[in-house]
Amino acid sequence: MRIATLKERATGETRVAITPETVKKFAGLGAVVAVESGAGEHAAISDAAYAEAGAEVGSAEATAKDADIVLGVQAPDVSLLGGVKSGAWVAATFDPFQQRERVGAYAKAGLEALAMEFMPRITRAQSMDVLSSQSNLSGYKAVIAAADQFGRAFPMMMTAAGTVQAAKVFVMGVGVAGLQAIATAKRLGAQVSATDVRPETAEQIRSLGGKPVFAEGLEASGEGGYAAELTDEQKAAQAEMVSGHIAKQDIVITTALIPGRAAPRLVSDPQIATMKPGSVIFDLAVGQGGNVEGSKADEVVEKHGVTIMGFSNTPAHLPADASALFARNHFNFLSAFWDKEAGKPVLDEEIGDAIRLTRGGEVVNERLAG
Ligand code: NAI
Repeated sequence: MRIATLKERATGETRVAITPETVKKFAGLGAVVAVESGAGEHAAISDAAYAEAGAEVGSAEATAKDADIVLGVQAPDVSLLGGVKSGAWVAATFDPFQQRERVGAYAKAGLEALAMEFMPRITRAQSMDVLSSQSNLSGYKAVIAAADQFGRAFPMMMTAAGTVQAAKVFVMGVGVAGLQAIATAKRLGAQVSATDVRPETAEQIRSLGGKPVFAEGLEASGEGGYAAELTDEQKAAQAEMVSGHIAKQDIVITTALIPGRAAPRLVSDPQIATMKPGSVIFDLAVGQGGNVEGSKADEVVEKHGVTIMGFSNTPAHLPADASALFARNHFNFLSAFWDKEAGKPVLDEEIGDAIRLTRGGEVVNERLAG
């Protein structure tokens, strides 16, 4: 069983899918691990550290040659996988709804694409869930980046020269990233409020010391713990609530996503115009279409005296931790299914069918049908 990891080649990608820690763990299962030279460069992992952990370190071609499993953060281009074994698995994020052509190319190449972002939200898969591990870090980073951009302090400070008021932070979308954003802003001493469309989040907001702010009667819970899209009436009710609240905020962090769809628009330009000059909005959904009107990925935009920012790849701004967690997700996934006798992982239906995009030359995933 040969497990290979290539250097990430997507623009702005700093993470790596395997770490010396997981190299050792895979070796402990009996696997041979190969890593492309330079793969850990941005995550502060040297080739020597991989070699010391027991990995073969070499060119992309040598690394991929005869691999049974390729691990990636973002799925590598098929052109890099010419030397892998027939029917090899590639476990990575595939952005399957947007990148259907790439999924098609994997099918054509006879590869088995395993989309880590399709991991079901079930208890036993929590430790394999890359969306959670990366969103958690993103929520933290969004607050830190916004705080850095903000020309004021977060905590209340009583000084000899007078009092500095606590910053008011509003978090929109209370999933994994939003919860960490609330926790981080609280730790920095801000007054935090938050909203979502799933009613169960109100208690979670309170438990972190935040104040839930909900539009009356608004509920849009979808499948699998995710949100559903709002009706026009619900959107209007939410917009009214936001308009009343946002003018009093210093920092707004938006994190709202709906699986398989463009991110919902939560903050409009007229609403931004009501905010105080110097306020900062961080749009964590900017890479998926944006929650905020006028936000641009990887740019700091100023509108009505308000700074709007967001990164196309937020976890890539914390490469060492993001890689460490991503790599553990991969290990937790493969090791949970490791068949000692076969010396390789054997997936079950619940998880295998959920994440498998291609097999035997075909696109096989239900969510991509039609
Ligand atoms: P997400 O990234 O899909 O969305 C972020 C948040 O935006 C969600 O809370 C969603 O309800 C909210 N949202 C969507 N549309 C909105 C709108 N119009 N206005 C305001 N908010 C809106 O969500 P994430 O972080 O992936 O978590 C979704 C759920 O899955 C949570 O309940 C989480 O606890 C659960 N979960 C379960 C796991 C497991 O059991 N393995 C692992 C990770 C998350």
